[in-house]
This record gives sequence, structure tokens and C-alpha cells, in this order.
Amino acid sequence: MDAERIKRDTVVIAVGNQKGGVGKTTNAIHLASALAERGRLALIIDLDMTSGATKALRAPTDGWISSFELLTGSEAAEDTIITDAEPEVPLPPNVHLIPSSRKLAELDMFLAQNPWVVQQDLLIEPIRALRGRYDYIFLDTPPQKTKTTVPALKAADFVILSAMPDHLAVSALGEALQDIATAQQYANAKLMLLGVVVCALPRPKTRLSRQLVSYVERTCIDPSGRTLKFATEISRSVVVQEAQRLGKTILQYQPTHLVAGEYRELAMEVESRLSGIRTGEASASVPAQEASNG
Ligand SMILES: Nc1ncnc2c1ncn2[C@@H]1O[C@H](COP(=O)(O)OP(=O)(O)O)[C@@H](O)[C@H]1O
Ligand SMILES: [Mg+2]
Repeated sequence: MDAERIKRDTVVIAVGNQKGGVGKTTNAIHLASALAERGRLALIIDLDMTSGATKALRAPTDGWISSFELLTGSEAAEDTIITDAEPEVPLPPNVHLIPSSRKLAELDMFLAQNPWVVQQDLLIEPIRALRGRYDYIFLDTPPQKTKTTVPALKAADFVILSAMPDHLAVSALGEALQDIATAQQYANAKLMLLGVVVCALPRPKTRLSRQLVSYVERTCIDPSGRTLKFATEISRSVVVQEAQRLGKTILQYQPTHLVAGEYRELAMEVESRLSGIRTGEASASVPAQEASNG
């Protein structure tokens, strides 16, 4: 608990892509865990009604205070958190969770009944209340521009996009880049695309996957032409799904597995990009809008 009292310089990262089943949740959970292994304190906020992150971390999807209460402000932000000290939920060390619940389906009704509540601002106060407590807050978003994706893009500092090497996942990236540009223009001028994770890559790479990876590399670039695709690629392995079925991350389930190592490497790359941005030298600090035009 003492660790939580330290004032931290919180980085808020929304993990996105318009399409479902492209690794958003897996990447959010594993990045949070790999950063936690590096000594950081991470919080995952599950904003998806289907509760992918909540289920993958074996947290309850019903009967607990959830991201619905966080978004509607009916509970104080800190009271919605499940910590790694919660005996009923086996969270990885230094990873905390705000679970989602089916109540998120009632968000529309909440907004209709509260005409003064602005949808895009739903996460502004909660995130403000949580800043300083964590090194990283990951917002695991649902596919499509649903009622929770827009508030996530408004409240986040960065976006990490997720893509698997299939045509639909890659083509949805273009739409995601457009969304980031729109969010920058209308809601959050400081929002930046931190990078694109390509995950679930077959090994050895097929011709198609090589083509798609190279397409991502060429299209997600900053104005100086440097790619925003992370150099670390995550391999496809059934062990990822096996671990998820057991409610564990691969870092917990098979810490020496290739994919566990890749997520550790990705965490290092994320931190080195962030420190480059802090010192003002990294090209990733360019707005995503320029990247999408590039
Ligand atoms: N590296 C990987 N290897 C194998 N399967 C993976 C890998 N990453 C993700 N998956 C699987 O792909 C599916 C979709 O991933 P998920 O993270 O839930 O995507 P999203 O959150 O975008 O819907 C899940 O069944 C997950 O277990
Ligand atoms: Mg998901």
C-alpha cells in the first residue's frame, strides 16, 4: 500500500483499434504486467462491456463495483479499484484493475437521464483523481467508437494501436488513425500515437504476414518518415490462449516463454519511446494526425 502513496508521473495509454479480436486486451494486460515486472505500478481499466480484460484476469464481471460506477461518478474512482492485494482476484503483482460489467450497457440510459453530463468527458474527472497513484493507466477499449472509446481518447495521453497480421485488422488501423486525428482536433490536442504493436505473428512468418507487417511499417510513420510500428513483434502461440483460459498472463504462466520475453522487450521499447518524448527527441511525439497523413 505504501507504494501507492508515492506521487507518480502517470502515463495514460488507451489501447485501441476499430476491430475486435486484434489483441487489444492481450496487449494491454501483458504490457501492464511486463511494466510491473520492471517495478512500475499499473492500472488496467476495462471499458469493454464484454469484459475481456476482466475475464482474462479472473476478476468478477458481476456484483462488484466496476468501470460503470467510475464513468458515472457514482463511486469515488479509488473505490472502484481491485488491487493486487485482493484475495479473491489473483492479479499479477503491481497490476490493479477496474473491472467492467454488463452494467456498461446502461450507459446510454444514464446519459439520456443526465442531459448535463457530456459523454466525451466521462473519464476526465476519474482519470484526474487517479493520476499520481500509478505509473501507467491502460484503458482497454471496445471495438468501434462506442460510448466508452470516445471518453478514453479524450482522457488519454497516448494511444497504442494493436494489429494482427490479417487484412481486416490492418485495414481497421486506418480508421483508428483517423479517429485519433479527430480526437486531437475536437477533444484532446495533446493526444499522441505512441506506437503500433503487431501481435500474434505466425513463426516462421508467412508471406502474407510479412506483407502486412511491412504495410503497417510504411503507413504508420511520423513526418520524418520514421515508423511508429514497434520493432518488437509478438509471436502467435497457443500458450497465450492457454494462459488466458487459466486467468493468467503468459508472464505468470510461462515466464521463460518466447512471448513473455517479447512482451518484456516491448515494455522496454515503450519506456524508451516515452523517455525520448519526455526529453523531446523522439519522433513519436508528433501528433498522430500527421502520422496518418504521412
Ligand atoms: N500472441 C498471441 N498468440 C495467440 N493468440 C493470441 C495472441 N494474442 C492474442 N491472442 C488471442 O486472440 C484473441 C483476441 O485477442 P484479444 O486480446 O481479446 O483482442 P481484442 O481485445 O482486440 O478483442 C484472443 O483469443 C487471444 O487469446
Ligand atoms: Mg478486448
